[in-house]
Amino acid sequence: PALLRASSPELLRQLRGLALVRGGFVSEGEVAELLREVEPGLGRGRYQSDHWDRAITGYRETERRLRGGAGLALLLRVTPAFPPCRPPRPSAHVLDLLPEGGVGPHVDSVKFCGCTIAGVSLLSPSVLRLRSLRDPQEWLELLLEPGSLYVLRGAARYEFTHEILPDEKSFFGGLRVPRGRRVALIFRNDPPG
Ligand code: OGA
Ligand code: MN
Repeated sequence: PALLRASSPELLRQLRGLALVRGGFVSEGEVAELLREVEPGLGRGRYQSDHWDRAITGYRETERRLRGGAGLALLLRVTPAFPPCRPPRPSAHVLDLLPEGGVGPHVDSVKFCGCTIAGVSLLSPSVLRLRSLRDPQEWLELLLEPGSLYVLRGAARYEFTHEILPDEKSFFGGLRVPRGRRVALIFRNDPPG
């Protein structure tokens, strides 16, 4: 089944290569190793809500420099998604969401994040929705299976908000996508200047 849905074929064409999703980017064995590497940084319990930068609920997060074998291998494999002169930062943003947790619509701060965002989803499927800032009728949905990679760049990064749907809103078109706990490793590059 397609991993991308859009409000129109034109929009799908317009964002081709700018919003993309690749299933099976990390294997189950790698998933286990990645979780072992990043989970200690998340602390115990204490999921929070709200964030100065974006509406977010039921989450824990940390920035983690990847040092383990699976982490470094993943960093190497996501690097080609970035421009050669603007590689990803060596620290991944680790975002742990409860099933009922979601990330509200936002655009990543241009002060702290460059032109490319690449996210690897672990444990639970989820839906990432993009909505045009110019025309809210224009949207794109990405179905993020566990082990998948998505990339947002160019117009998809700057001209659309993105959000992760909480369990009660987690649908990919007519397809219900039941959310469990989801851990994402998000790679970003530095803004220019
Ligand atoms: C964010 C964000 C998306 C994800 O934290 O800014 O958009 O894949 N997260 O969890
Ligand atoms: Mn974001």
